[in-house]
Amino acid sequence: MGYLLVKNGSITDENGSRRADILIEDSRIAAVESSIAPDSLSGKTRVLDATGLIVLPGLIDAHTHFHLVSRGTVTADGFGSGSRVAAYGGVTTVVDFADHNKGMNLVDSAQYRMQEMKGGMAIDYSLHQGVYGHGYNPDIPSQLEKLKEMGIRTLKIFTTYRDTGYLLDDPEKLSELFRHAGRLGMLVTAHCEYNPMIEEISANWTGTFLPRDHADLRPAEAEARAIEFYGTCAMKEDCPLYVVHVSSEAGLNAIRKLRKQGAVIYAETTPTYLFLDRSKLEGPDGSLYVMTPALRTKQDNLALQDAVMNGEFQVVATDHCTFTKEQKLANPDVRRTYPGVPGTEEMFLLLNTLREKNPGRLEMKDLVSLMCVNPARLFGLYPQKGSFQEGTDADLVLFDPNVKRVLDDSNVHTNAMYTPYRGFEVSGEIRMTVLRGKVILENGNYSGREGEGLFIRQS
Ligand code: URP
Ligand code: ZN
Ligand code: ZN
Repeated sequence: MGYLLVKNGSITDENGSRRADILIEDSRIAAVESSIAPDSLSGKTRVLDATGLIVLPGLIDAHTHFHLVSRGTVTADGFGSGSRVAAYGGVTTVVDFADHNKGMNLVDSAQYRMQEMKGGMAIDYSLHQGVYGHGYNPDIPSQLEKLKEMGIRTLKIFTTYRDTGYLLDDPEKLSELFRHAGRLGMLVTAHCEYNPMIEEISANWTGTFLPRDHADLRPAEAEARAIEFYGTCAMKEDCPLYVVHVSSEAGLNAIRKLRKQGAVIYAETTPTYLFLDRSKLEGPDGSLYVMTPALRTKQDNLALQDAVMNGEFQVVATDHCTFTKEQKLANPDVRRTYPGVPGTEEMFLLLNTLREKNPGRLEMKDLVSLMCVNPARLFGLYPQKGSFQEGTDADLVLFDPNVKRVLDDSNVHTNAMYTPYRGFEVSGEIRMTVLRGKVILENGNYSGREGEGLFIRQS
């Protein structure tokens, strides 16, 4: 492959920015120095002039659902289009999910997912393994050790979704899972909505089940209650808990309370809960904004933004889970609407816009922590991913901070064919995305190849 030399960029890691050059040899970072002369290199060299650009480690979206088969359908973005969307967003690695398949144990489920992804992914990927109520059995602890050997050491549990069989709510099983995960140094991640509360509200509901009712059918209090219940359970077993897609101030307060009690709680939020509020659920296209947890109030958005800027969240990811407008609008009964929205492409631009609006409170280095370093560390990918260390994967992004554009259905690349951030003015543009030394996005042109993405083991 030869050399790629990125010159004169503002290299930004979690410690800050500095003017430097990056030399990439084949797929690895060979050197980061204040100045590297092209004629000092013996071999084919492509020089990229990054003057005026910010150079970031390749972003990680630690929460995606590409090609999710669920509720009798499949998501619009599969592995190929998911990879394309990611590259447009500067994302070079995703941590996706292996479902706990019905009739399969965890190891077979993981192998099945790895096999599925292998031929389709054009960017790198790692996996969280689902542990679902329908398949929980006494063999689970021994399966965890095998998963770890396979390079999967993060698990995913659901505190809701009885209909799909995902719900895991038996306290004894939960204690057992947390105990063994803690012992093995595995990280349990949890979708937190307290199912008894949600089922009770639904059972007593006398109103409609339209999109505008979604936020009341699945309220913030249910998120807080689930965080409290599952967090306490994990703490009793000395196991950390990673709460995915925190959506509300109430949920955040539950995390604060647990942390004060000594629990190790890692928290992730998503652009949906930072920038969209429940008013989106009103009107004829309210279904397009149906996701779980439901959208909250503007006050919740602001409380979460504050918490991002205060360092209370470790990770921003997206929960990219896409359906076309036709799929989303097919059933106005919110209990049947396919939940989830696109986000991987928009993630960094939205967070950079928040940074621009809050000088001194959120810096570029903080974005690197939230979307590169912290997910890489928590999910066992660091320093291979999320860093500029010599010898590691040459994943990087050239970012132009001096451009503005308005997001629109016509300028995003998801197969869902819409963006929930339509009309948002965002700052900056991903000019180039480099995966292991190979340019996969350049000035708006995508050149990723399905099958070239690699499974990255979590260590
Ligand atoms: O609505 C959502 N979030 N769909 C994806 C699955 C999940 O719960 O994360
Ligand atoms: Zn979820
Ligand atoms: Zn999800």
